[in-house]
Amino acid sequence: MSSITIRSLQAMKARQEKFTVLTAYDATFAQNAASAGVEALLVGDSLGMVLQGHNSTLPVSIGDMAYHTACVARGNAMAERPALVMTDLPFMSYGTLEQGLESARKVMQAGAHMVKVEGDDWLVPLIQALSNQGVPVCAHLGLTPQSVNKLGGYRVQGREKDHADAMIRHAQTLEQAGADILLLECVPSQLAADLTAAVSVPVIGIGAGGGTDAQVLVMHDMLGLNANHVPRFVKNFMIEGRTVQQAMAAYVDEVKSGAFPAEEHGFSA
Ligand code: KIV
Repeated sequence: MSSITIRSLQAMKARQEKFTVLTAYDATFAQNAASAGVEALLVGDSLGMVLQGHNSTLPVSIGDMAYHTACVARGNAMAERPALVMTDLPFMSYGTLEQGLESARKVMQAGAHMVKVEGDDWLVPLIQALSNQGVPVCAHLGLTPQSVNKLGGYRVQGREKDHADAMIRHAQTLEQAGADILLLECVPSQLAADLTAAVSVPVIGIGAGGGTDAQVLVMHDMLGLNANHVPRFVKNFMIEGRTVQQAMAAYVDEVKSGAFPAEEHGFSA
């Protein structure tokens, strides 16, 4: 079976078929997730929390991201249908155009197929430059964990009408700049559905309800390994004595059927 590409994900949006994204940080889990039918693997800077034990993503370096991307790319390549590999550019690694291009070079040469960056309109020049260099981009809006200090905590974003309207405008601006995919974290379900309808690129959600084109979860959360605070948008798929592969396959099935996320996993305005 051929690998998943940006075009596969765009075609799925056009067919209104939901797709599934899961974080992965190493070869074994990457191979298992791709084999379970996960369409895109996110080498998330959440690795700073779930692998490194930090209380935010801020300490993660571009070297860490390149290392884990290479591990994931090797495992993913062993799956019958390799997934698309998307890698986060970490905190302060894309503050200038030069830094952003150099950071993208490192993770793309390590095996990523696209990069993810957090922010709104200020990302326009970087997204244009990356697109010109042939680097697909996912733009992360809503709760952007690299800005946790500015946001005053991990809080739902876009509850006020002016903020919600601005988020939709930003999404459209980023699409026009060349973003290939958008990711929305912790926003009211209705806002996520409205934003998804307002753009033509695929929108991935986490804590954004069932109205987006795709869902992403942090792997450790959906495997029930998070011993600390479990956010309401998380579902533990390891119930009923499932194996890791079965849990990942159940996640894929529930995203495709619309069973996950349920209403209780989302937020109201
Ligand atoms: O780093 C990460 O894992 C992420 C997801 C939470 C979307 O950005």
